[in-house]
Order: sequence, then C-alpha cells, then structure tokens
Amino acid sequence: RVAYVNGQYRPHGQAVIHVEDRGFQFADGVYEVWSVFDGRLADFDGHMTRLHRSLNELRIDIPMTREALGRVLNETVRRNRVREGLVYLQVTRGTARRDHPFPPEGTAPSVVVTARSLPLSKGDASAKKGVAVITHPDIRWGRCDIKTVGLLPNVLAKQAAKERGAAEAWMVDEMGLVTEGSSTNAWIVDEHGKLRTRDAQANILQGITRAAVMALIADEGLELEERAFSVDEAKRAKEAFYTSASGFVMPATSIDGVKIGDGKPGPIATRLRALYLDRAM
Ligand code: PDD
Repeated sequence: RVAYVNGQYRPHGQAVIHVEDRGFQFADGVYEVWSVFDGRLADFDGHMTRLHRSLNELRIDIPMTREALGRVLNETVRRNRVREGLVYLQVTRGTARRDHPFPPEGTAPSVVVTARSLPLSKGDASAKKGVAVITHPDIRWGRCDIKTVGLLPNVLAKQAAKERGAAEAWMVDEMGLVTEGSSTNAWIVDEHGKLRTRDAQANILQGITRAAVMALIADEGLELEERAFSVDEAKRAKEAFYTSASGFVMPATSIDGVKIGDGKPGPIATRLRALYLDRAM
C-alpha cells in the first residue's frame, strides 16, 4: 500500500507526519472520505465543496487547487489498485512549535491521502440482515457542521456501540432528540410512511450521502420532513436507517434492543440503498 504525504507517495508503513503537526497536537484539521466505485470517486464535487467549506470556516489555507488535489486522490486510488473502497483525505494547519494560536503565516498545511479496498459485498451482507443501533449522549461541540478530525466523542460513542454488539451509535441531544450517528446521518420512516431526518442546520454534519438520498426520495415521490425526531419516535418508527459515504444506506433493525418495525430491513431503506448503488455505479 502507498500513502500520499505532503507531496510524496510513500510506502504505507513509512508514511509519517511530524510530532509537532497541529493535527496531532490539537486535532487542528479537517478530513473527507469518498467511496470508490469501479476505481472512481463517488460524489467528487460534493465532498470537495464541503472540504473547502470546512477549511474556510477554520481559516486553514487551501493546500492546492481542486484539480491538483483531485489528481492526488485519483493517483492514490490507482497506486493502491482500489476498485471498490474508500479514500481518506486529511488537511491540518501544518507543523509548527506547539502554541495554541495559529502558526506563523505561510506555514504549509499538511496533506495526507490514503486509499483502501473494501468490497461492496461486505456492506451488502449487513444491509440484508439489518444492523443494531444504540443511543448515546451527544457530548460534542457547537460546530458539528465542520468535518474536523476532533472525533473523540464520536470514537467513544462508536466504541460503546461495539461493546454492545451494535454497528452504530445514534447521538442524542439534551432534549432527547437524535442528532446523528457517530459517523453517519440518522433517518426514520414514521407510521404514515413519511421520512424524517434532522435539519442540517441543527448542529450536524451536512452529509453528502444524505443529500444524494434526498434527491432519490424526491425522484421516488416519497414524503420527507427535515425535522429532528426523538429516541421514542425512532423506537416506534416503521423503519430506521443511516447514511454515509462508507455505508451508503444501512437499515437499522433495532435501537437499544427495541425491534424496529418487524425487525427486518424496511422496504424504503432497502429501495433507497439499491437506487443509491445503482446511481453510483
Ligand atoms: N463520516 N455524520 C458524521 C458525524 C460523519 O462523520 C459522517 C461521515 C456523516 C455522513 O456524511 P457523508 O454522507 O458525507 O459521508 C454524518 C465518515 C464516512 C467517516 O468519518 O468515516
């Protein structure tokens, strides 16, 4: 395997970042994850636009043009011979002596790209059976719209899920409303067949897969309400599922051990997954 690190392609085992990198010391950086279908990055523009927005919000310099970055992403995919899988990009505020304020002007941002194969069939097996979700308090900050590498609350939530045999943790705010998954956006289908997902303005990540699925929902003539739902509503829902670049559309068949619907992946989630994959391939 090969990784791109600040201008060079290195063997994966020797791809390293300086100890004084601000990503390492302060989680002062942002990232994106693309899925790869047939060697091509899915939703290239959507993720690139969100990357620029994240950088902009944090006032981290744009490391290179969109075109140049696109070439690096594609070259990393090619060198790792990825046909189906994931590409990871991280940009930090760069390397400088440890000090909280921004480093001197002209400090180059650090750029890292990795790519790995992940066969689609693996996720398909989970999607056919449906996965378990737990709920967990959302202890994150007020700017979850920025895709920063500061993911400790997400790590703790996902670990809690893993320890309880679940695939994902849905984070819950102080009002008892679901914000999003630890690395996914959360959705339900209510008793009237209406889809629900939290409003993207309400301190969650504006998922690229979320936006793609919204377009599919409109095409299918289904009803959607962008409004937060509570844990209780989720447990009474006909269907539950979550979306992300790595899992596409993943049906959830239980929440905190409570069976959702008939305990099998729902027809709407199953259909949206098929449509999403069809469109991506
Ligand atoms: N996670 N919400 C959170 C907190 C996320 O970290 C992600 C993505 C999403 C879904 O966004 P998108 O559809 O653009 O992937 C929602 C990536 C996949 C990760 O951390 O691995």
